[in-house]
Amino acid sequence: MSTKKDPFILALPKGRVFKDFLPKLENTPFALKDNFENSRKMLLDTRHPDLKVLIIRGWDVPAYITSGAAHLGVVGKDILIEKEDEEFVELLDLEIGKCRLSLAGKSNLNSTSSRLRVATKYPKSAISYMNSIGIQAEIIYLHGSQEIAPVLGLADVIIDLVDTGNTLKENGMKELDKISDISTRLIVNKASLKTRSRLIAEITDALK
Ligand code: PRP
Repeated sequence: MSTKKDPFILALPKGRVFKDFLPKLENTPFALKDNFENSRKMLLDTRHPDLKVLIIRGWDVPAYITSGAAHLGVVGKDILIEKEDEEFVELLDLEIGKCRLSLAGKSNLNSTSSRLRVATKYPKSAISYMNSIGIQAEIIYLHGSQEIAPVLGLADVIIDLVDTGNTLKENGMKELDKISDISTRLIVNKASLKTRSRLIAEITDALK
């Protein structure tokens, strides 16, 4: 009988967070083994015989973890807020990818506005925030580059991530209100917490 375990899969988001996260793995038993630069491979080997790293889009990480297709995931809190209905457990704030979710516009809000067109890829956060300030939101769902929408008249304001503020500035926009602080989190599949607890504890400890 084989004693080989099913691979344990850590899902990482492509892009900025991937680059910020890699140094955290580097000097651990879980570092990547494959030469992943310029590679299109999505499932990569690590130094640990049981651990593979899956590289996907951040927005897809919660679905992989909820279904158990992957066991541990790295994802921004901005995405977790939108995907709160899915079933995962948040284990750790990785203290990377720090930024804020903010309301931004070309100028201050007109105090008489009772309804505004809000360009965003965060409809849940946007509706909840606009309700909290007593303004009805018409959501214009965009996949990115929201900063140009008010400039060209597609929306009145945006709700999006702000880090340095350069994207807003270079497009003639200003930050009007911070809605929440955002950072990258480690999430886990609920069942795996029991069945793969040892490896989860080892990886979590290595990342702290
Ligand atoms: C993010 C975010 C802003 C920008 C903020 O976009 O959506 O557009 O970074 O960063 P800054 O304040 O330092 O300029 P990203 O580059 O991830 O691409 P996106 O437009 O596809 O979301």
